Amino acid sequence: MDTKIIRLEDYLRTEILSDADRDKLKIAAKILRDGGLVAFPTETVYGLGGNALLPEASERIYAAKGRPSDNPLIVHIADITELEPLTAEIPEAARRMAERYWPGPLTMVFKKSPLVPARTTGGLDTVAVRFPVHPVAMELIRMAGVPVAAPSANRSGRPSTTTAAHCIEDLTGRVDAIVDGGSADIGVESTILDVSGDVPQLLRPGAVTREMIEETLQISVPEDAALKGPLGADVRPKAPGMKYRHYAPKAPMQLVMARRDPADAAPEILRFLREAADRGQKPALLCSVECLEELKRLDSFCEKDIIIRLTGSRSDQTVMAHDLFECLREMDETDAAYIVAEGCSEQQLGYAVMNRLKKAAAWQILYV
Ligand code: TXA
Ligand code: MG
Repeated sequence: MDTKIIRLEDYLRTEILSDADRDKLKIAAKILRDGGLVAFPTETVYGLGGNALLPEASERIYAAKGRPSDNPLIVHIADITELEPLTAEIPEAARRMAERYWPGPLTMVFKKSPLVPARTTGGLDTVAVRFPVHPVAMELIRMAGVPVAAPSANRSGRPSTTTAAHCIEDLTGRVDAIVDGGSADIGVESTILDVSGDVPQLLRPGAVTREMIEETLQISVPEDAALKGPLGADVRPKAPGMKYRHYAPKAPMQLVMARRDPADAAPEILRFLREAADRGQKPALLCSVECLEELKRLDSFCEKDIIIRLTGSRSDQTVMAHDLFECLREMDETDAAYIVAEGCSEQQLGYAVMNRLKKAAAWQILYV
């Protein structure tokens, strides 16, 4: 299959869609409507879109990603009026969340209506719906005139894609088109809140944080077991996708978390790096600028033989989230044989970052 690269030249320069950009998006919208696949930017990560109402389009999404077909897709809309036909009921809590956070990086799981094919929801009787705020995503879905099913636009098992270049790397020859709308702002996938049961439950943390949800709904929000630790073979996470070892870099990864003073992590990180080198495994380090400074103050730290990727400052979780998947992808391009990563605070957006890091590390975490 030939993959058409659609570069939105004006949007890339100005962050405003021009008429020329819109004409290009019309081509992508027609591909979607006709059952084809288009990768496109959203504010969280890139999505691999197909017409959510056509079972064959969902089938093609699973094939393009190499994803097990029991893993349901998120259905994207571009107007709140598109929600009702997809769902059997819209609980009050969902209305309040939608009012406050849609369009935006929030997905909600509803009881589905018969309109949504079982192929799109992996056979579940619920449907995950998201109303993204990215101008390109909004315009594309609106032009397509149909709800758009879109998982993250990566090959299964690889980190989610946050730039068109990542999509080109993973999906060339597997989708009809890739829309280049620059780098995704947030960098981690949307928050998933299940509102299909009696009490709203957090299935995946994202930029709409648990603190924000609890403040809006004035309740304490329980979270799925998948967020708390490695799942036993007999436990089924509510979001089927959370059971897979996502985002795993090729090299094994050790996460080091400081419980009190962030500086406490440095000596342990150094120890892991040294032990890897002693075993003959090329060590790599993923940490904040502050952590690197702390390591440099430890007199036995030697930068020379370590692959280093920095995730910005500890004080700026937005940079950490934005760069996370790119850093993990870059690690795979090096000859790193053992990765040591610094954990961050689990408040607010940090909780979403840590959730991805814990999975990347297959829950190898040292708390100090
Ligand atoms: O930010 C995002 O959400 C991105 C962009 C493209 O919108 N999409 C995304 O999709 O991350 P994906 O497929 O990579 O992750 C969707 C997650 C999976 O873990 C899946 O199991 C869960 O959502 N999910 C989808 N439908 C569900 C449902 N009906 N019930 C429970 N979990 C569901
Ligand atoms: Mg994904």
